[in-house]
Amino acid sequence: MSKTLITTFSKRLIDWYRHEGREGLPWQGVRDPYAVWISEIMLQQTQVATVLERYPRFMKRFPTVNRLAVAPIDDVLAEWAGLGYYSRARNLHVCAQQVVKLFDGKFPSDPLLLEQLKGIGKSTAGAIAAFAFHKRAPILDANVKRILARLFAIEGAIASKQVSDRLWVLAQDLLPGSPKDMPAYTQALMDFGATWCTSRKPVCLTDTHQCPFVKDCQANLSNQVLSLPQKIVKAKSPEFDCDMLLMRHGDMVLLQKRPDSAIWGGLWSLPESTWRAKTSGSLSGSQPTLGALLSLTLPEENSAAVLKQCKIPQRGNYIKHIFTHRRLWIQIWHVNALDAILFSQSNLRWIPLRQLGQFGLPQPVKLLLQELSLIRDGELKS
Ligand code: ADE
Repeated sequence: MSKTLITTFSKRLIDWYRHEGREGLPWQGVRDPYAVWISEIMLQQTQVATVLERYPRFMKRFPTVNRLAVAPIDDVLAEWAGLGYYSRARNLHVCAQQVVKLFDGKFPSDPLLLEQLKGIGKSTAGAIAAFAFHKRAPILDANVKRILARLFAIEGAIASKQVSDRLWVLAQDLLPGSPKDMPAYTQALMDFGATWCTSRKPVCLTDTHQCPFVKDCQANLSNQVLSLPQKIVKAKSPEFDCDMLLMRHGDMVLLQKRPDSAIWGGLWSLPESTWRAKTSGSLSGSQPTLGALLSLTLPEENSAAVLKQCKIPQRGNYIKHIFTHRRLWIQIWHVNALDAILFSQSNLRWIPLRQLGQFGLPQPVKLLLQELSLIRDGELKS
């Protein structure tokens, strides 16, 4: 089954392309590798409709690789304005200079050499080699990965090396035998993925068109079209709760320096309880007594003094802070001290409000103090 699909695939796909492919796009039929390269980079993260407008403009301003290489980077970035992902523009500029310096201004035709150039990945190298030099080089962008994962019912996370290696082998095996067919074949793959074998609404699940591979596609035959390719589902990062004490006396706030080894190590912050897994129930839900709150957030030797000097804690903001691998919910508790209690630990200090901006504070604490107008933007250390 797969064997015949492999040997007939390119011809059937090109036949499909002749009837159903996209036509009249300005980068089609182009053999100038410079022009092919620009269009491929621009098309990577930009809608075709936008590229239709911006590609001719770019080519007019920088018509050759030499002109691009000698242009000031600010001019290139200005021409790229609005297209987003500006590293693409910076890479284009470096790559143009590499082509001038290393290849005398002529793009190499070998995909392995193309891939060495700045900003050109393996798939883009294949596309340039196929379109400009009619090389039998495969492409494997996200659309092509989807087509192949479905046709051959390839399971396993599409982003994994194992699956990727397998798809590259398949992509190579499926190439047409004749180099002259490479441009049509490559464009056909791109068009088929973008218009028919789409991620959410592939034509096999509608009754508007008949997919040419309906009888061969393993995903279609086993009812797995929408579940292939498999994505890695990111586990939800764990959630924690903690309490923070916003203790004030007059125009002073109590700050605590964090241990160097902790999160926000070495920064000054509000006194904080240990973190609790969010499911375990926490202080945040109910009104704590002052004693309970203090025992969580301040060293024990200070409790007696603080208990004498402070009133009932008032519930403040409940803040969500997202780290790369965890989420933290912070319950703020406002406590007013009648006196500036003396703390024996050097990591606890009363700080006048006007000096708060001079301290490196954790982002959520900084935002909270700003929101409460305890610090103003102008006073912030960046
Ligand atoms: N995306 C990347 N390259 C493309 C091309 N040549 N045509 C359409 N979409 C593309």
